[in-house]
Amino acid sequence: MTEIRVVRGDITAQEVDALVNAANSSLLGGGGVDGAIHRRGGPAILEECRRLRSEHLPDGLPTGHAVATNAGRLPARWVIHTVGPVYAKRDDRSELLASCHTESLRVADELGATTVAFPAISCGIYGYPLHLAAPVALAAVRSAGTDVAEVRFVLYDDTALAAFEEALHSHP
Ligand code: APR
Repeated sequence: MTEIRVVRGDITAQEVDALVNAANSSLLGGGGVDGAIHRRGGPAILEECRRLRSEHLPDGLPTGHAVATNAGRLPARWVIHTVGPVYAKRDDRSELLASCHTESLRVADELGATTVAFPAISCGIYGYPLHLAAPVALAAVRSAGTDVAEVRFVLYDDTALAAFEEALHSHP
């Protein structure tokens, strides 16, 4: 049974087996969580991302997919990079957002990771409203059938924390 926790904090400070990066398809870094992970994790992560791009992902990582690298200097063993959907009012992309979570957990199971930290994927630069994303993220984790013992949603501000706590308690 997977324990789901919702905490306020910085994902780069989480001592977990794997932390999930809200990346973009280039895998070559960015702002937000992506920027923080590469800044704190150091160049070893980007070096492996570049190798993945040249050897396996010439066109980049598709939205909803996930791939693992080392975690460099971060207090984790792996970073699992996933690409969230950009929010669009007239186009329901919740399946892609759900896939970010189930695919990240599938990769975590392949690695043997037992604790995994997620940010609020797509809820920053990609504009996904928190009150829509949180229930999708939680339902995806609950339906994933993963061996991961603890999934920790790490929220960077009180608004995000409240949205995920609300989703956690309204769908027990
Ligand atoms: N720890 C935890 N959460 C964080 C951190 C952090 N250090 N920094 C930002 N966040 C939060 C944001 O507040 C937001 O709620 O993570 C959530 C996701 O925001 P983004 O990082 O902007 O990710 P996303 O919306 O998925 O956009 C992805 O942004 O950084 C670029 O390269 C990335 O192009 C990609 C896009």
